Order: sequence, then C-alpha cells, then structure tokens
Amino acid sequence: MPSSPVLFLAAIAPDGRATFAPADPAAPHVRVDDLGVTRGDGVFESVGVVGGVPQSLEHHLARFARSSAMTDLPAPDAAAWADAVHRAVAAHEPRPELLAKLIVTRGVEGTGVPTGWVLVTPGADYAQARTEGVDVLVLDRAYPGDVTTRAPWLLQGAKTLSYALNTAALRHARAHGAHDVVFVSSDGDVLEGPNSTVLARSRDRWVTPPPELGLLDGTTVGRALAFARARGDRAEVDRLTVADLAAADGVWLVSSGRLSAPVRSLDGVARPVDAAAQAALLHHLLTVHD
Ligand SMILES: Cc1ncc(COP(=O)(O)O)c(C=O)c1O
Repeated sequence: MPSSPVLFLAAIAPDGRATFAPADPAAPHVRVDDLGVTRGDGVFESVGVVGGVPQSLEHHLARFARSSAMTDLPAPDAAAWADAVHRAVAAHEPRPELLAKLIVTRGVEGTGVPTGWVLVTPGADYAQARTEGVDVLVLDRAYPGDVTTRAPWLLQGAKTLSYALNTAALRHARAHGAHDVVFVSSDGDVLEGPNSTVLARSRDRWVTPPPELGLLDGTTVGRALAFARARGDRAEVDRLTVADLAAADGVWLVSSGRLSAPVRSLDGVARPVDAAAQAALLHHLLTVHD
C-alpha cells in the first residue's frame, strides 16, 4: 500500500556498507544521545524527485561521499543508498514532486556506528517562488574566498547537518521582509544562498560562482548550465560581485526541490524577472533529470 511519508532505516557497518529496511516514519528511531542530535554531527543530501525519478542522483551521491570524507565518516555505499532511494520513492504514494532526504550521523556517542536513513516526503510547495520570484537580502558570510584551504575545519562546501547558521540567515531575511539570502565573502564575492546556488544571466552568458570559494557544489545548477548550453548560450563558472547581480538580465536561486526561483528584488531594490527564461529553465529542470 503506497503511503506518505516513507522511511527506510539503514544499518551501517564501520566500513560504510549499508542495508536498508522499511520502518514506521511516525515511530521513534533516533536516540537522544545520537551525535546528529546533540552536535549536528553528520551529513545529508536532499534529492528532488519528479514524476517518480530522483534527479541528479549520481551527483548527489558523489557529493554525499565528499561530505562524508570531509567529516571523517565512512564512505557511503552508493549502490545501497541509490537502491534505498528508489525503493522508498516507489513505496510513496505517487505525487508529481517528492523530496528524498539521505541522512547519516556519527551515531550514538561512543559507539562509532553511524545512524542513517532515507526519508521521502511530499516536500514543500514552491509554486509561488517559481512563478512570482523571491525577494533576497545580501548578507555577509564574513569568510574569505580561500576559506576552504585556510580553515578546512569550517567545512565550507560540505553538506553537514549543522544548518543552524543557514536557518538563522533565512529567519533574518524573513524578519526583514525578504524570502531568501545571497551570502557574500569578506572579499566581496557572491557565494550562495543558505540552501541554494546563485545563477545569473547577462545576455547569452550564464554564470555561477566557483565552488572553490567554499560553496556547495550544486546539483541543480549543473543541470541549469546544461540548459544554457543546450539553447546555444555560454555557461560559465566565474566570480560575481553584487554589482554584477544588480546589472544582470536575470538572477536565480536554484536548488533541488525548489528547482529555480527568479530573484525579483535584491536588498529591497526591484530587479527584472526574466519570465520567459524562467519558464524555459523550470521546464528543463522538471523534465531533464541528469
Ligand atoms: C548551501 C547550499 N548551497 C547550494 C545548494 C543547492 O544544491 P542542490 O542544487 O544540489 O540542491 C544547497 C541545497 O540545499 C545548499 O544547502
């Protein structure tokens, strides 16, 4: 019987090998002394699922492996996780769009045994952000562009469970009448959103900032750049300033689940929403899964 949400719990060996079994999502499963709970110590992925197809799954699993390596967690068993995602999606009642979360924590303190699961839910409703666009504040992340080499322990570029800073930035934006955030570095480089990648278009040139600045290597922006190339435009990874964003013909926040949301104001200044490009980009992101 299809249900919602759907949970598959992992049994993870110290070398990362994993086996999964369905479990009741309404029952308690995580202990109060799990380091994922007490320290936010773990990594995750959020995979968009459209028409029953997990999008960019290989890219997500590669990033899951990188985040695990950066946090000294065992290399995830990619085939087992992929299989669990497919089984959990198949067990979920059919919806046009779903979200699959893959979670690994460092486990119960003192055991050295990671905790893990896959949870598939209907996800949030992004219709308004997609069609009307989002108001964005530019906020200082106060890290330099070489943060990943200068201070690798800050784990910039890893998708860790420590998202309290990201949600704090979003609350700050909402308290100031905006929907979302674009972070800048202490050197003035445009970085990313708290849960999105920045993409800008100026005429036929689409640009996203380099992950080397300490950004999450976005899966959605990879597919968005493929869209730009497919329409004969230039797709580039390059540094951007806030002035570049203000002058661009179109600016988007892109991420799994939400896919693409045009930015309709930056720091309270209205900017054009490229409705035609948004419609075409969103169509691509909904129909091309890799
Ligand atoms: C900090 C950060 N940057 C970028 C992204 C976008 O990544 P993706 O397109 O793979 O969802 C996310 C996704 O949640 C994120 O948390």
